[in-house]
Amino acid sequence: MKTHVRILFVCLGNICRSPLAEGVFRRQVERAGLSSQIDIDSAGTGSWHVGEAPDTRMQATSSERGVDISQQQARQVTLADLARFDHIFVMDKDNLSDVLSLDPDGRHHHKVRLFREFDPEPGDYQVPDPYYGGADGFGLVFDIAERTASMILHRLVEEYGLRT
Ligand code: 4NP
Repeated sequence: MKTHVRILFVCLGNICRSPLAEGVFRRQVERAGLSSQIDIDSAGTGSWHVGEAPDTRMQATSSERGVDISQQQARQVTLADLARFDHIFVMDKDNLSDVLSLDPDGRHHHKVRLFREFDPEPGDYQVPDPYYGGADGFGLVFDIAERTASMILHRLVEEYGLRT
């Protein structure tokens, strides 16, 4: 039986950073021929944007670089997600504490990591929130997501012995 790995990306609104991480990672997984072995989703810690498509500025930056995220719909992360997913990558330290607080018993805490722990140029280990900033913030988030997602994919391939 082939291994199946479930990956969740989490940010605050689920309309900028985590949908982008989902889209970028999905493209890398498809290119690696591993789509049938890796499930990918994203969610937000907040509920303000539930049901909405990603921010149009994030969609534009992403589509310029060949990744279509327009069909995604924001949803809020739940304790059930912590049980269901094998690895949960959060975009900043507020997301980290919010996600961990969903699980007061700490049963799933070991699955939750800062996304940029895997970035070769991690900066402060957080993906800057582009929502209130200028247009260049979206390109920066794309670059961070692309290089970090690729490191995560390499790690998963090794850890789970994934092959096409
Ligand atoms: P995201 O960005 O967490 O990357 O989706 C944000 C989206 C919306 C808000 C904040 C951040 N908001 O305050 O509505």
